[in-house]
Amino acid sequence: MKGILICGGSGTRLRPLTEITNKSLLPVYDKPLIHYPLEILLKASIKEICIVTGPEHMDQIKKYLGSGERFGCTFAFAIQEKPAGIAQALGLAETFAQGEKICALLGDNVFFDDLAPAITSFQAGGHLFIKEVDDPERFGVVEIDSNKSTNQLINILSIEEKPKKPKSHFIATGCYLYDERCFDIIRTMQPSARGELEITDISKWYMERGELSATMLHDEWVDAGTFESLHHAACLVKERSS
Ligand code: DAU
Repeated sequence: MKGILICGGSGTRLRPLTEITNKSLLPVYDKPLIHYPLEILLKASIKEICIVTGPEHMDQIKKYLGSGERFGCTFAFAIQEKPAGIAQALGLAETFAQGEKICALLGDNVFFDDLAPAITSFQAGGHLFIKEVDDPERFGVVEIDSNKSTNQLINILSIEEKPKKPKSHFIATGCYLYDERCFDIIRTMQPSARGELEITDISKWYMERGELSATMLHDEWVDAGTFESLHHAACLVKERSS
């Protein structure tokens, strides 16, 4: 399995912090944000990792990560010319993936659960990590079939990107396990109303074929894309490290 860290985008909600640097290099207590999703991949023994980011921040990210030697992995880099969506960013890693399964993580997500068991046991199809939140309309919202779900494995009935009227309080966090077909799916996708290739549409493709599963997260999870959530992530990390 190969790892992909999706770190492009313009980080507009974090301006002026993101005026001269990438969101994923902002500090979360004692480390840059990118370190946290990177650790998820390393913990799952994924040693080949591709970083996708925009042209303006590639040099800084490369400088921070280096060859990968100090993390015990190797890095490849792919440039996303414009923020045309998370799925478009993922598509840029197709050559790197070389037909293997992938674990894609958003560069601004901080997880406190141990995702390694689900990542290492993933076989085929798609797999999401679900979290119950108070503000589902900000995320990819999933509807769960409680009759067919167990504590370990969740069955998903629907998935919608940022719906005005969410069908549940459960959302897809920014860790995605897909088999090699995800790149064929991306090639057939059309931009959403906001002009982006949506990661949610990849998951929907697998769901419609009965090939999407999910794990429920029980510990804290933060999408650190706003001032509030970036600060919250730092507080949680500090709390856990002391
Ligand atoms: O955090 C989980 C959520 O992440 C999911 O629930 C949503 O389904 C998913 O669409 C995404 O929503 P966000 O609104 O949080 O996405 P955002 O635009 O903040 O982008 C997330 C990361 O992906 C961020 O680190 C920047 C990167 N990105 C984003 C876009 C649009 C790219 O690398 N390229 C892009 O074109």
